[in-house]
Amino acid sequence: MATRDELGPFQAGDGGLPPYLAGREHEQDLCRAFVSRLRLGRPPPREIVFYGPRGNGKTALLAWLAKETAASPGVDVIRLVPAAIRTETRLVERLLSTSWWQHLTPNEISVYGIKWRPGNDRPPPLDEALAARARKGPLALLLDEAHTLGEEVGCALLNASQQVGRELPFLLVLAGTPELRSRLGAVNATFWNRAERCPVGRLDPEASAAALRRPLEDEHVGIDEDAMTHIVRESQGYPYFVQIWGEAVWRQIRGSDAQRQRIERADAARAQAAFDREKNGYYLERYDELMDRGLLPVARAVADAFEERSLLNDEELETAIARGLGEALRPDTVTAARTALGRLGYVWRPETEPMWEAGIPNLMNYVQQYVPAPDTSPGSAP
Ligand SMILES: Nc1ncnc2c1ncn2[C@@H]1O[C@H](COP(=O)(O)OP(=O)(O)OP(=O)(O)O)[C@@H](O)[C@H]1O
Ligand SMILES: [Mg+2]
Repeated sequence: MATRDELGPFQAGDGGLPPYLAGREHEQDLCRAFVSRLRLGRPPPREIVFYGPRGNGKTALLAWLAKETAASPGVDVIRLVPAAIRTETRLVERLLSTSWWQHLTPNEISVYGIKWRPGNDRPPPLDEALAARARKGPLALLLDEAHTLGEEVGCALLNASQQVGRELPFLLVLAGTPELRSRLGAVNATFWNRAERCPVGRLDPEASAAALRRPLEDEHVGIDEDAMTHIVRESQGYPYFVQIWGEAVWRQIRGSDAQRQRIERADAARAQAAFDREKNGYYLERYDELMDRGLLPVARAVADAFEERSLLNDEELETAIARGLGEALRPDTVTAARTALGRLGYVWRPETEPMWEAGIPNLMNYVQQYVPAPDTSPGSAP
C-alpha cells in the first residue's frame, strides 16, 4: 500500500476538502458571518447557494464549511445529497430520529414545540420537524448536488427553510451546477432571488499558486518560481487541474528521490505527461456526455465562436448553436441545446454580467481537435 508520503498532500477529484482551500476568502467570510449568527441563536439573514460548473470546488466549500462549523461547538451540521432524501419523510427522518417522534409524550411536545399526537407513527411534516430541530439548537443543513433535488421534497424544503429560517437559527446551504437556478425556480419562484448567491468559478493566478504552494510548504517542500509559473498557466485556474498537477509533481520528486525537498522546472516538465493523461481522461468523459446527448456538432460550433475570446453574449452564443445544429435547427432546439450545454457545464453564465464563458478550461480545444467543423458551405443550414 502507498504511504502518505508517496501519495502526497493533494486531493484530485474525490470531492473532499483540498489540502488548502485557496481563493475563496469572500465565501468563507460570508459563511463565518452567517454561522456566527446561528451560534448566537439568531436566524441567518438568508440561505446560501453555491453554484458553478463541475470541478470548481462547490463540494470543497461545503466540506470546509462543515469542518469549520464542527470545529467549535454550538451549531449542528447535517450534510446531505438529494439521493439520500428522495421523499419528505426521508428528510424528516434525517432531522429527527424515528424513535424521537414515535415516542413523543405531551411533555416532550411542550419542550420542542411540536404539535404531535403521542403514539402517532407517522412523521411530522418537514416544517415542524425542522422547527423542532432548530429549537433544540442551531442547525446548518448543507445540501450538495442540489440541482438533482426532487420536485416534491425540494418544494417542501425550500418552503420550510423560508419559514423556519426567518425565526430560528437554521441555515440552508445549497450547492449545485448552474442548472440549479432553473431547478430551484421550478419548485419555488422566489428562492433564488432571496438567497445569497455565490458563483464558484476558476481561481485567479495567485490563488492557484497558493493552492499548490501551501500544501507543499506543510510538507517542507519548496517550488521554483518558473515551475510554479508553468503549473499555474497550465492549470488555467481550474481547481481540479491544480490538484492533478500537485499529485503529478509530487510523484515526480518522490519517484526520483525520496529526500528531494524542491520542485524545479524540469520536474514540472517531466510531470506534464502524467498531467495530460489525467486531463485528457477527464475531457473524454465530458466528450462522451456531449456525444450521448447528440451535442458534439453544437459543442464544436460553440468552441469555434469562443476561439480567441473568453466571453460571448446571448446572441453570439445562439448564433453559434444554430450553426452547430445545422439541419436539426428548429425554433425550440437552440434553447434546448443551450440548456443542455449549460447542464453539462460546457458553458455557463456567472451572474454578474449577461455573458457566457467556458465552464471547463480548454475542453473546447479538445472538442475542436476531435469533432469536425460544421458544414457552412452555401446551401447548408445557417
Ligand atoms: N479553492 C480550492 N483550492 C484548491 N483546490 C480546490 C479548491 N476547490 C476545489 N479544489 C479541488 O478541486 C477538485 C474539484 O473540487 P470539487 O469536487 O469540490 O468540485 P465541484 O464543483 O463540487 O465539482 P462537481 O460539480 O463535479 O461536483 C477537488 O480535487 C478539490 O480538492
Ligand atoms: Mg461536487
